[in-house]
Amino acid sequence: MRVLAFETSCDETAVALVQDGRWIESNLIASQVELHRPFGGIVPEAASRAHLTNMVPLLESTLEAVDRDGRPLDAVAVTYGPGLVGALLVGVNVAKAVAYARGLPLLGLNHLEGHVYANWLVPPGRDDQPEPRFPLVCLIVSGAHSDLVVMRDHGDYVRLGRTRDDAAGEAFDKVARMLGLGFPGGPAIQRVAEQGDPTRFHLPRAWLPGSYDFSFSGLKTAVGRLIEQLGPEPPVADVAASFQAAIVDVLAAKTAQAAREYGAAQVALAGGVAANVPLRRTVQDRVAGEVRLPPVALCTDNAAMIGAAAYYRLRAGAISDLTLDARPNLPIA
Ligand code: KG4
Ligand code: ZN
Repeated sequence: MRVLAFETSCDETAVALVQDGRWIESNLIASQVELHRPFGGIVPEAASRAHLTNMVPLLESTLEAVDRDGRPLDAVAVTYGPGLVGALLVGVNVAKAVAYARGLPLLGLNHLEGHVYANWLVPPGRDDQPEPRFPLVCLIVSGAHSDLVVMRDHGDYVRLGRTRDDAAGEAFDKVARMLGLGFPGGPAIQRVAEQGDPTRFHLPRAWLPGSYDFSFSGLKTAVGRLIEQLGPEPPVADVAASFQAAIVDVLAAKTAQAAREYGAAQVALAGGVAANVPLRRTVQDRVAGEVRLPPVALCTDNAAMIGAAAYYRLRAGAISDLTLDARPNLPIA
């Protein structure tokens, strides 16, 4: 089954072609990082307008490829939430137009579910790789979400915990800004932290005993206070490394605990922060069983993951119609 997928929930315009939920035929992404960089964060209005202009060439070249090889499309899939409403609307309306014009079934997908299905995609260059196994404990960590979820089957999610304030990626982005490291913050912190001592400053971990929820705003405030105390030339690498160690410690510990409690067959990481190398390593160290890690390039927003999730929805017969609308606060479970 060949799915044409769209993703425009945040600041990447993305169009992909995915075969049977696992094999990427095409995965185009137009990033808006340079557009938003001067503002130190995403400007929603600018993001929607950029999606409109970036979408057309991506769509044209993907459809040209489809028409050239003559193999039919089976469905059109699109992220309809959660995300920025003006950004989501671009993808949703383009997907509706293509589905209508080509007489194809339309599927609305949850962006967070898409991140999870990056674990089903077979990395380019590999022939195959077994599918993830249920029950699958998933840590979904992005710029806007931090959810710990147990997935017992396709489409069956129970949320065990979520962030009570900042998302993990948001904490990376805010701390990076405090340290003058620019946007997006996660990759910048990881890079600088490689030269730093993660044990130099002990920063607080909000364990929230008895709960799988997260809280990162106290950590962010503690970093702000530390930077103030350190004066005009703080040891940026050590602060970044100590911050990263604190956030990774909590994420990995709670994930490992959930894996034990829920008898996980496997654990999966998902979302932009899943690209973080120390997080990947620490989760692998602490989880007794097998850990699934999407390739780094498929952790951040892309449409291939939406095409993967769509295949399993389609197999279950879940189809949307042309009344599909953007749902900015759509939860995963
Ligand atoms: O999933 P994503 O691309 O977009 C959202 O759905 O939000 O995630 C973006 C987030 C940003 O906050 C970015 O700083 C973070 O993922 N991120 C990272 C890394 N790469 C991206 N955080 C930590 N380490 C990384 N290597
Ligand atoms: Zn995302």
